[in-house]
Amino acid sequence: MASDAQAGRLSGRRAIVTGAGSGIGAATAERLVADGAQVLTVDLSGEVDLHADVTEPGINARLVAQAVERMGGLDTVIPCAGISAFHPLEGHDDAYFDRVLQVNLVAVFRLVRDAAPHLKAAGNGRIVTIGSTTSTYGDEGLCAYSASKHAVLGLTKSAAAELGPFGVTVNCVQPGAIDTPMTAPAFAQMPEYRTFWEGKAPLRRLGQPQDIADVIAFLCSDDARFMSGHGLWVDGGAMVRH
Ligand SMILES: NC(=O)c1ccc[n+]([C@@H]2O[C@H](COP(=O)([O-])OP(=O)(O)OC[C@H]3O[C@@H](n4cnc5c(N)ncnc54)[C@H](O)[C@@H]3O)[C@@H](O)[C@H]2O)c1
Repeated sequence: MASDAQAGRLSGRRAIVTGAGSGIGAATAERLVADGAQVLTVDLSGEVDLHADVTEPGINARLVAQAVERMGGLDTVIPCAGISAFHPLEGHDDAYFDRVLQVNLVAVFRLVRDAAPHLKAAGNGRIVTIGSTTSTYGDEGLCAYSASKHAVLGLTKSAAAELGPFGVTVNCVQPGAIDTPMTAPAFAQMPEYRTFWEGKAPLRRLGQPQDIADVIAFLCSDDARFMSGHGLWVDGGAMVRH
């Protein structure tokens, strides 16, 4: 599924990827390294350089400091850590709503904020946030998730406006339904949900983590130097039917 690495395309880039222990984040870290970047990988668990909870107060500044110390600088940020589960609106737990916002939004804001001085200094910084098709649309049971992902798209656009004068591009990849450990429980419990998404996409399949990683790598590359502030659906075309 993965396209061929473009050796050297990202050489010299120094990136942080959070959520790199699984799914899209793991595939992204792998693709960035294959293209020549240095990558500091972060996750709660899995095979990563640093185990950390991105919601812990002060952690994002420490991750930035670690990246600068280990790699000699920082010019690329991919905050991929995220959580999701279906919760109907009625009876929706306050604590779960808050947790989703903390992981999917507040931690992204803090990492972008804390990395910004280094990305500005680099002169060609790159931030790729991970939204979702629910950054644009809603869905049953996804109030918290969709609210967090709409907000990430807004954060992306405002950061693009603010950091653009310093040569930093900020874009948001919006995956459709991707076959990862995040979606596995829902697809296992509701096979019809999987079939629905496969059928909704004109390309007639779920996405694989590499489908997203390859687009992220492109956005980090010099080929995407004049793109900023975008939300890009990477969904097999599913949203053309919305
Ligand atoms: N899978 C999909 O269909 C889909 C669709 C749209 C968007 N996304 C987004 O893509 C991103 C990656 O999701 P995925 O599908 O690869 O899921 P995943 O569950 O495979 O990976 C998410 C990773 O984030 C890590 N994580 C969660 N909370 C964390 C925390 N507090 N601190 C550090 N790490 C934490 C998890 O440990 C996990 O390794 C998420 O932001 C998700 O919202 C996924």
